[in-house]
Amino acid sequence: MQTKIGVIGGSGVYEIEGLADAEWVTVETPWGAPSDQILTGTLDGVPMAFLPRHGRGHVHTPTSVPYRANIDALKRLGVTDVISVSACGSFRHEMAPGDFVIVDQFIDRTFAREKSFFGPGCVGHVSVAHPTCPRLGEACEASAKAAGINVHRGGTYLAMEGPQFSTLAESKMYREHWGADVIGMTNMPEAKLAREAELCYASVAMVTDYDSWHPDHGEVDVSDIIATLTGNAAKARALVAGLPGLLGVERAPCPHGCDRALEFAILTAPE
Ligand code: ADE
Repeated sequence: MQTKIGVIGGSGVYEIEGLADAEWVTVETPWGAPSDQILTGTLDGVPMAFLPRHGRGHVHTPTSVPYRANIDALKRLGVTDVISVSACGSFRHEMAPGDFVIVDQFIDRTFAREKSFFGPGCVGHVSVAHPTCPRLGEACEASAKAAGINVHRGGTYLAMEGPQFSTLAESKMYREHWGADVIGMTNMPEAKLAREAELCYASVAMVTDYDSWHPDHGEVDVSDIIATLTGNAAKARALVAGLPGLLGVERAPCPHGCDRALEFAILTAPE
């Protein structure tokens, strides 16, 4: 099988550079239109597909992002490996603004989004005990290190509904009692849907702020996020640029079984 890398870019990451044969393509799905057209091309001989999660011009809120259409569209284009790039707040002193965190766990507090491709007529339950692919996480870590990024491997991402930021009480609870390391508004249900679509998924969370818990930092606002994102977006592009060389053109079956997640997941009897 051939590798095809899908990149879902978050706030501040609306394109990737250096693609050969670059073309924005329109993809239709049974779940409606994805967030935007998808930029296809090749990087170091590896096919790539880039989707701006909020659309160019940042038109989708975290709640209105069409998560199912986005994952379906990448699957239809033949993507094998999805790298999510997104901004996040940090609950840890050592995960400072400008750092990247290769997330490996999630707490899903979203409640106003479609979360599954399954429904009446076809019932399935995939495991998301380990919601990210360690092989992809390893490649992201290596690429980040090669690009000189201060990267943390492993972390729990609390996915909140938004669009407002957390209250101080929530921020303290997530950090002190729930063990979350970072917070964002978009990685769920994206990671769950990628698993249902049998796509390997890794999440690169770019720290933009300390949310509101940190005694030495004011509460988060959009201007903090934009200021840090401007630097982060260039680092994110450098990380992505290193991935084709690390993942290679040929792709073996995922050693962790992400690409076989449906093997024992479907309960509905075949017709
Ligand atoms: N995205 C960036 N910073 C965030 C924060 N503090 N909370 C939720 N989403 C974020």
